[in-house]
Amino acid sequence: MQGDSDQLTLDPDLIKDLRDRLALARRVAVLSGAGISAESGVPTFRGSGGLWRSHRAVDLATPEAFKDNPKLVWEFYSYRREVLIKLAPNPAHIALAGLAGKLKDKDSLTIITQNVDGLHQRAGSKKLLELHGNIWRVRCTKCGVVTENHDVPIEILPFCRQQSRHGRCKGLLRPDIVWFGEMLPSGIFEQACNVAAEADIMFIIGTSGVVQPAASLAEYAKENGTYTVEINPEKTPISGVMDKSITARAAELLPLII
Ligand code: OAD
Repeated sequence: MQGDSDQLTLDPDLIKDLRDRLALARRVAVLSGAGISAESGVPTFRGSGGLWRSHRAVDLATPEAFKDNPKLVWEFYSYRREVLIKLAPNPAHIALAGLAGKLKDKDSLTIITQNVDGLHQRAGSKKLLELHGNIWRVRCTKCGVVTENHDVPIEILPFCRQQSRHGRCKGLLRPDIVWFGEMLPSGIFEQACNVAAEADIMFIIGTSGVVQPAASLAEYAKENGTYTVEINPEKTPISGVMDKSITARAAELLPLII
C-alpha cells in the first residue's frame, strides 16, 4: 500500500493527528538512525558529507580491517570520539526523552537506535536498544569484558586492565560496535521486533533504510498493525510503505509533535 507523503512539514492537521495518536497510544516505538544526530553536528554515513563518502567502510568498520590494522581502526574511532565529545543532544533527542514522561507509563516508550553516539542517553532517554553498540564502550578481544570508556583521546592501542587470578588480562581492546559482517548483540533484534510489533505507533527517524536487519523493522511493524511514521528530509526505500512519510528534519518536527 502507498503511504501518504506529506510535503507540508508544519501542516497543523498532521501535527494534531500525531499528537492525538500519541495521547491514545499504550506503546510507542522509535527507530532512529544517523539523521537524528545530524543537527547535533554528527556526520551521517550516506548522503553529502557522509562518513562513507570520505572513508571506505571495509578499511575501518570490519573485523578484518581491525585484524589487519588495529591502529588505523582505533585512530578512526578516536577521531569520531573527539568530534562527538564536543557535541550535545539536539531538540529531537530532547523531545523523545521528554516523551517518556508524558506517556501514561514511562516504560511504554522504547527507542531502537542504530546510532553509537550515546546522544539519546545524554538527552535522558532510558529505555534503549542499541542495535549497533556504543562508541563509549570497549570490549576486550581476549576476555570479552565490556566496559565504559570515555577517554578522549583514547590510548592507541588500548589494552585490557581486567584482573583475574592469573594476573592482568592485557588483551587488545576494540570498540564495542557492530561492524559490517558481524552479528548484532545476542537477542537484541528479537527484542526490537517485539517492540516494533507491539507498538501502537512507531516513528522511523533519520535512517536511510538500507542497512539490514535494522531496515526491516519498519516494515515488520507495519505488517503487525503498528501505525508507522517516517521523519526524514529525503525519501527512502521505505517511504512508500509507511503510513505517513513526512519530509522534515527531526529536530524541527519532533518538538512540535511531542
Ligand atoms: P545513513 O547515513 O545511511 O542515513 C541517514 C539518513 O538521515 C538519511 O536518509 C538522511 O536523509 C537522513 N537525515 C539527514 N538529516 C536529517 C535530519 N535533520 N532529520 C532527519 N533525518 C535526517 O544512516 P543510518 O541509516 O543510520 O552502521 O545508517 C545505518 C547504519 O549504516 C549505521 O548504523 C552504521 C552505518 O554503516 C554501523 O556502523 C554498523
